[in-house]
Amino acid sequence: MPTGPEIILALKVLVTAVTALFIASLVALAAGRPRLHGRINTAFFALTMLTVVGFEVLLQFFVDVTSAFDPEARRALRVHLCFSVPSALLLPVMLLTGKTRRKSVHVALGVGFAVLWAGTFVTGVFYLPHR
Ligand code: HEM
Repeated sequence: MPTGPEIILALKVLVTAVTALFIASLVALAAGRPRLHGRINTAFFALTMLTVVGFEVLLQFFVDVTSAFDPEARRALRVHLCFSVPSALLLPVMLLTGKTRRKSVHVALGVGFAVLWAGTFVTGVFYLPHR
């Protein structure tokens, strides 16, 4: 079974990779390619959900959180979850409102999502201790 630091390192790599996709989708939008934005974000959605589910299954069933993470890591993880859980909940709504072209709702929620995702990225990649 992976150790706590190994899990956190893997999480950092995955969060960075999907964030690159999300940024690319916003670049596509700015370049006037909403279709491309939608396709990139469909991949972003699938990969992010896989990461969340995989991580959750690992922690729930295979890893003893108390022994795998020290108190500092657990505190950082809790802060990270304050951003990552709401973003994960918002993600299917983003996909749905995008696919059904409910533009005003999609853009309004998109602003909130971008803020939550920035929090997820910063607390996940810079604050979680992986050593
Ligand atoms: C800052 C965040 C976001 C903004 C500002 C944004 C904005 C937009 C805009 C302006 C459109 C074009 C809508 C139209 O012309 O009717 C669009 C389409 C779309 N968006 Fe987003 N979006 C964001 C995030 C996301 C996310 C996170 C997802 C998916 C998880 C997503 C999925 C889609 C899809 C599937 C479409 C439809 C593309 C198509 O026409 O084929 N968007 N978005």
